Amino acid sequence: MSDSTFYVTTPIYYVNDAPHIGHGYTTVMGDIITRWHRQRGEKVWYLTGTDEHGQKVLRKATDNGVSPQEWVDKLVEDEWKPLLRTIDIANDDFIRTTEQRHIDGSRAFWQDLYDRGAVYKGEFSGHYSVGSEEFVSEDDVADGEGEDEGFKVSKLDGSRVELVSEENYFFRLGDYQQQLLDFYEANPDFIQPESARNEVISFVSRGLRDLSISRSTFDWGIQVPWDDKHVFYVWIEALLNYVTAAGYGVDQEKFDQMWPANIHLVGKDIARFHAVIWPAMLFAAGQPVPHQVFAHGWLLVGGQKMSKSKANGIRPDEIVDTFGSDAYRYYFARALTFGSDGSISWEDIQARYHAELANGFGNLASRVAAMIGKYAGGKLPEEGRRTPAEQAVIETVAQAVAEADEAIDAVAPQDALSAIWRIVDELNGYLTEQAPWKVAKDDPDSDRLATILATAAEGMRVLAVVLNPVTPKASAVLWDSLGAEPTLGALDDQLMASVGHWGQLPAGAMITKPASLFPRIEAAE
Ligand code: MSP
Repeated sequence: MSDSTFYVTTPIYYVNDAPHIGHGYTTVMGDIITRWHRQRGEKVWYLTGTDEHGQKVLRKATDNGVSPQEWVDKLVEDEWKPLLRTIDIANDDFIRTTEQRHIDGSRAFWQDLYDRGAVYKGEFSGHYSVGSEEFVSEDDVADGEGEDEGFKVSKLDGSRVELVSEENYFFRLGDYQQQLLDFYEANPDFIQPESARNEVISFVSRGLRDLSISRSTFDWGIQVPWDDKHVFYVWIEALLNYVTAAGYGVDQEKFDQMWPANIHLVGKDIARFHAVIWPAMLFAAGQPVPHQVFAHGWLLVGGQKMSKSKANGIRPDEIVDTFGSDAYRYYFARALTFGSDGSISWEDIQARYHAELANGFGNLASRVAAMIGKYAGGKLPEEGRRTPAEQAVIETVAQAVAEADEAIDAVAPQDALSAIWRIVDELNGYLTEQAPWKVAKDDPDSDRLATILATAAEGMRVLAVVLNPVTPKASAVLWDSLGAEPTLGALDDQLMASVGHWGQLPAGAMITKPASLFPRIEAAE
């Protein structure tokens, strides 16, 4: 459908604590992907938000002597919304699960499933992990060791589990095993990458038990509409944020345009919830299922999964304060393979910042502008006859842009950036080989000098556009310095397609030297 929307989501984050870079990671990757699609001229919707119910949040609030509502309000305003500014996210919506639109939509969704007979009342007796807000089957419970000695832990993620015995409502998840397996087979891209897909298929193949969807021993949650002694189990309403934000049950027109979502970006620990429980819920409700669940890996620090509880949690602003938001975004997209675990370190950030951003890209931008200033009085000269050297630049640029475009469709921002960096390297190499400073000395009025300068400037125009989704601040500065704004319009209106048309930057444009895009950082710890 032509008026459908390219709809991408992040997980909604638990607000038991402040964000760390693991949370920032998903949000930045989704932002790069959606900015890219927007620049292609597509209608895009990027959703993120916060998951505010459940025992984990409730206990944290109680430990801090405040009501859960006070706790979540404060954390969302002081920590989670500011994070989006810190890392420069252009989200279209932010959903909180304590908002009325989510409460109403969730109740309507489950009332519908209840009315359809997909829900029944029963007794739950078994283990529950508050840390991961998950019911843990007996096969997955083990005796704790070390500091967990004397406790039972979940084999799934090592979190402590507790025995729970309470009246619950159940969703007939077990009924959907075959339908899910058939669906995975018919839709091989539904869960990606392959490792996540295989894990989910083998999990479902082992059989599915019905799932508790309510809790009756505390009340921090959304009340079950047909029984006010119960609140919904946090996951089965949290997953609904993707439809309640899209107008489910309230705004059918909006919902038809938005749903199904194109990509749910998730960490691999929560792939099962998104690739098993969520589609089964949608099957039961007769709603279409999202096109893709993409599961990324862990950020590892010192070889270990980074997490707040391990005290190796790094706050996004620790990195942004030193390197800036562009470098933060660039680093996570470039240095890691989205979909696999990857190690990060301060030294690596610093090294890439200097080698790739400051020396590779930033320096190129200022050199090109400085040369046009020095040899052409800041006025972009008319391009003369092209030689094979210019043809090679044009070809490399065209190929790199096409590859980057495909990489974004394959949810591989790291490949998009390596393709784009071939442009940076090509332009740096071109200038070294063509040595315009020599031509300026030997033959200052030549056609040749004009051609070299115009080619380099046009290459910078392309870089400004294709890097805009990744480094929007640097791109905007570069764009202005190219004098492009008055003649080409605003950077944000540039379609990706425009980069495929060589020679957009008009002769006579006034080129000024940009403020240093990535200044050297001397005192980084
Ligand atoms: N609230 C649920 C999601 C509900 S979506 C309907 C949740 N929240 S979370 O805050 O615990 O985690 C959010 C995301 O952060 C998950 O995708 C998780 O994988 C990710 N990460 C947490 N630590 C991480 C790393 N060290 N590295 C990469 N991502 C990590 O789960």
